[in-house]
Amino acid sequence: MTTSPHAPAAGAVPIGIEDLEIATGHHVLDLSALAETRGVDPAKYSRGLGQDEMSLPAADEDVVTMGAAAASALLERTGIEGIRTLLFATESGIDHSKSAAVIAHGLLGLPPHVRSVELKQACYAGMAAVQSAIGIVARRPQEKVLVIASDVARYQLASPGEPTQGAGAVAMVISADPALLEIEPISGVYSADIDDFWRPNDSSTAVVDGRLSMGAYQKALMGAWEDLQAQGGPSADQIDAFVYHQPFTKMARKAHRHLSQKLGAELDETPLDQAEVYNRRLGNTYTASLWNGLASLLDHAGDLAGKRVALFSYGSGSAGEMLTGIVRDQGDAAGRRARRLAMLDAREPLAVDAYEELHRSAELSSASDQETPQVGGSGFRFAGIQGRARRYERPAG
Ligand code: CAA
Repeated sequence: MTTSPHAPAAGAVPIGIEDLEIATGHHVLDLSALAETRGVDPAKYSRGLGQDEMSLPAADEDVVTMGAAAASALLERTGIEGIRTLLFATESGIDHSKSAAVIAHGLLGLPPHVRSVELKQACYAGMAAVQSAIGIVARRPQEKVLVIASDVARYQLASPGEPTQGAGAVAMVISADPALLEIEPISGVYSADIDDFWRPNDSSTAVVDGRLSMGAYQKALMGAWEDLQAQGGPSADQIDAFVYHQPFTKMARKAHRHLSQKLGAELDETPLDQAEVYNRRLGNTYTASLWNGLASLLDHAGDLAGKRVALFSYGSGSAGEMLTGIVRDQGDAAGRRARRLAMLDAREPLAVDAYEELHRSAELSSASDQETPQVGGSGFRFAGIQGRARRYERPAG
């Protein structure tokens, strides 16, 4: 067991992730079929980028429905007692003003005395939500915070970013004395204003300078790492596993090797294999990507109790942060792994032309009322537009 010289100060309560759950879209696209259509060697996607499939939301799914699906399954286990805040992190928000959080709040049937708000800074906002949640719980340890990170990653058809698209959500309950992962107080942060990836208000797809974004990611990683060290955080040999934001899983490997090289150390790569199982099949899930990686590690790495995990979040634009946590009790990892793999297996495959059609019709104009076809199976539905507002349905009963 790793002893923790970085534990909360005497008298301070340990805070972290009580439990987490993942969800994704109804459809899946096999990247070898996409490679064939684009005239690309399939190994470029599977080995070069480290991606096998991408999840796609159905016409009646979006970040709200995926987030609600993940949170609903989670709250069935944790209950809602103590939850007084819902933080919804997303890059792919569905309204410039109204937050996805208040809609999810309604769909989940949470009581009115829960503050609900959305957070944005590209893929970093999930980490920002977790840190904000920790602050709230530190002030009042009897409170819990529901964090939802949910995204649909969309690039232009036939663009270099296309094979890195994806969709998915992670819901977490942040609490005092957490069952799953105790998050240590020291983290390393880094911000730099850079145009590596962004999405203008009038665009449903991201604008990206791929090469610049990979360099910006690595710069933010080193900036966050150096800050972690300067703040007195654990050294590399006190960390048992690194988990990274995975825009495509090879990026995590590049980042890890970059860090190893800078430190002049051979950091173990085994945890990278364990943390990429879900992400290889989901694609990029932006704000949820890091936490899907954590779920994958916890489900595939065997007994991690007492081990220290470092989590690095990167959001283009840009913000990076590395925190560390000590795994407490993984619970029934084998059962969760089987359930999550079954969820991925159950997605409905799309042919490439059907995917392209879905991609082109993804954004509904609010100018006229319209209904969406019933496709997604979670019970949480984006039912269409009525009176310029998005309408949602939740499972009956
Ligand atoms: N067999 C095996 N590997 C092959 C191959 C083949 N036949 N052909 C090519 N490859 C390898 C290449 O060598 C390369 O690997 P290395 O980088 O290790 O050399 C890899 O496949 C990709 O090939 P290219 O560099 O030619 O790929 P590309 O230029 O077409 O696109 C990309 C790559 C720029 C990352 C593009 O996918 C992209 O723009 N993605 C979106 C941006 C992104 O994800 N950026 C990451 C950092 S930003 C971030 O993290 C925030 C976020 O979530 C967006």
